[in-house]
Amino acid sequence: MMAKARVAVLISGRGSNMAALLYAAKAHSCPYEIVLVAANDPAAPGLVLAAAEGIATFGQSHKGLKRAEFDSIIDAQLRAAGADYVALAGYMRLLSPEFVRAWEGRMLNIHPSLLPKYKGLDTHQRAIDAGDSHAGCSVHIVTAELDDGPVLAQTPVAILPGDSADSLAARILIAEHQLYSRTLAAFVTREQQPEWMLNRVREIALALPQADEVISHGMPCFGIEKGKKFAWFTRDHHGDGVVALLVKTTAPDEQATLIEADPDRYYRPAYFGDDWVGIRLDRGANDWDHIGDRLRASWRQVAPKKLLGLMDIADQF
Ligand code: GRF
Repeated sequence: MMAKARVAVLISGRGSNMAALLYAAKAHSCPYEIVLVAANDPAAPGLVLAAAEGIATFGQSHKGLKRAEFDSIIDAQLRAAGADYVALAGYMRLLSPEFVRAWEGRMLNIHPSLLPKYKGLDTHQRAIDAGDSHAGCSVHIVTAELDDGPVLAQTPVAILPGDSADSLAARILIAEHQLYSRTLAAFVTREQQPEWMLNRVREIALALPQADEVISHGMPCFGIEKGKKFAWFTRDHHGDGVVALLVKTTAPDEQATLIEADPDRYYRPAYFGDDWVGIRLDRGANDWDHIGDRLRASWRQVAPKKLLGLMDIADQF
């Protein structure tokens, strides 16, 4: 099993979502662990629970400190704890732009509404007043705007006749507790998902001049428009369980050299011959800079001379 992702949770009070994340993390198969629970209130009840569960805690009031100043204290704590990700769970502080930038793409929040509806406070009453059939909760990536940023997952919760804000909130909270840990687990393992890898390959490949994507032999395949192919993405082809990228090599003996140097990662793709090489993507710790270089080198092998000339000119700038 891969090393667990290290998650820090920021709370302001009760911390029931933090507790849900923490208990889910006790499962052997959970891909994350909680390394720190921090609060902007040293008396936050959630800190007591986390400490009792053997988790490192940090509590300090933000009072009297400038927003950026306080955030940099929290940031230092997150780094000292070795956190890879931050989960906001009822953290009632607006974040400074510096802090958001520092954790960009690695910080999630849970919000008790079906975003983009009802950002901010008082969400339950607003959903009831609007006569909505459902309220719910959302987990999203944190960006500079409050309760904005890409939504990763949502759970709709039916509004019952006679629901008050409190009765609705209590039911949504049950949904929150399940949604958050599941979504966090999927998020920290997303780079191991074939779909994520394909999208990454696609982004790099289609950024190359005159590149296009087709399906070839049942696999996503990248080539020069009306020209030769420079990459195949293989995912469990004929049930082999392998996720890999096939690219053209750049020298006659390169395939053998690569396989010899790293036989765990490189292989000779069946039916492709000696001037292609397979790069396994399912062995963990993928070096995407290197994979990008390989894709571009492969493209160069098949690109028409005229396009290559244009690329070289562009490279000089
Ligand atoms: C939750 O409803 C959460 O969605 C919102 O604040 C509440 C925090 O509750 N952001 P808890 O501290 O997790 O119990």
